[in-house]
Amino acid sequence: MMKLFIQKTALASLTLAVTIACGSAAAEMKVVSKGMGVVNPALATLPAMPIPPDNQQSDAKVELGKILFYDPRLGGDASISCASCHDQAQGWAWAEDFSRGYPGTVHWRNSQTIINSQYMQKQFWAGSAASGEKQAKSAATGAVAGNGESDLMETRLALIPEYRKRFKDVFGDEFPLIGNAWNAIAAFERTLIADNTPLDAYLKGDKTALSDQQQRGKKLFEGKGNCIECHNGPHASDERYYNIGVPTAKRWDDDGLAQITFRYEIYAKGATENMYREIKDDPGFYFRTKNKWDKGKFRTPPLRYIAYTAPYMHNGAFYTLEEVVDFYNRGGVDEDGNTTSFPENKSALIKPLGLSDAEKEDLLAFLDAFSGDEIRIDKPELPEYAPLFTKAQLMEARK
Ligand code: HEC
Ligand code: HEC
Repeated sequence: MMKLFIQKTALASLTLAVTIACGSAAAEMKVVSKGMGVVNPALATLPAMPIPPDNQQSDAKVELGKILFYDPRLGGDASISCASCHDQAQGWAWAEDFSRGYPGTVHWRNSQTIINSQYMQKQFWAGSAASGEKQAKSAATGAVAGNGESDLMETRLALIPEYRKRFKDVFGDEFPLIGNAWNAIAAFERTLIADNTPLDAYLKGDKTALSDQQQRGKKLFEGKGNCIECHNGPHASDERYYNIGVPTAKRWDDDGLAQITFRYEIYAKGATENMYREIKDDPGFYFRTKNKWDKGKFRTPPLRYIAYTAPYMHNGAFYTLEEVVDFYNRGGVDEDGNTTSFPENKSALIKPLGLSDAEKEDLLAFLDAFSGDEIRIDKPELPEYAPLFTKAQLMEARK
């Protein structure tokens, strides 16, 4: 809210200045927002990770969260964990257009990386979760993801002595509370930060950290390519929602299971009967507002770590960054001229860029500068189940 306010104030005063100088506010607004870099925050290094006051970090909590992230018992049939769809070898995501789903389903969206995800004010492609803690719950219980029942998952945790001990140490729980599992997982995710990129080194003053080609690409990103309009600030994301014209997922045409999940999600999210039958694309942000002009809008994705997170877009429409740049250069249409099935909502900011082949190469080289080393960790050992009571204790209780 605060950020928006300051930007708008800056815009207003600058527009005023430009109006006085040049006469036409409407014409000059564009100059202000595009060329002068006032409205668009500059690309920047990362601030400290925000930590919610009611879920402070501790080493023991992070360690517990890491184990839980890998534990499939936090899911319906105990076969699928967070790490199943957020695999560190696949950019902490899933390297297919649509994510794998709960057994028997295909997910309907592309799996997002969890690297830097806890910086985001709203989570998911359409921003439907307000915090990491809420996100974790909805992932573990969502029908096409974890599909777990909270009370059953809580009971499983209670039957694992090591968890009983760890939850007691960290949260003081006599028996593990499922809500604290989400707290611990979010704390773990807050440690997964990609802040060591060539762009960071460059922004901190090492002008050799970007090659000449990458520096040319940066100029295109901020100028002719106009990427900075939405991909700005420390994450290269304004965290707003746009329809940029991403074409319909081809997979829905020939993968029945994916089609079923898609229809199920449309129905479950309260779409009209007509939408349920006819719709061809994911309406995204529409589900949060139910405004028809929000159909096909998604959160501007952060660009850090993208070297490792192909395929791209909410439906994984593009497998390479070359395809992404070509898509933007054509003005938000695919090779066959196809765009989203909600073209009426397509952002006016997306239009043909007229980049030459050499310029496309420069821009691509710059996109590499958003990724540093791959983040890898040792997978934790999962603790074993054990009966709550020994046989001797039970015998004793029966007496
Ligand atoms: C079956 C696959 C699957 C499982 C299991 C799964 N996820 Fe996800 N995750 C996804 C997909 C797909 C998305 C994007 C979904 C959307 O936007 O609707 C996502 C999105 C996210 C995001 C949002 C990132 C951002 O930038 O906003 C976070 C965080 C996340 N998952 C963490 C978790 C955690 C924690 C768990 C375990 C409790 C988990 N996921 C389980 C597939 C999965
Ligand atoms: C109008 C705002 C806007 C502009 C301008 C814009 N983008 Fe995007 N970008 C988005 C949104 C929104 C998405 C996600 C769209 C979706 O999934 O439907 C996206 C997706 C991407 C992705 C995929 C990221 C991922 O994790 O899947 C890349 C890469 C990207 N943009 C790069 C660029 C480049 C390079 C430019 C300039 C040529 C640019 N964008 C211009 C808003 C914008």
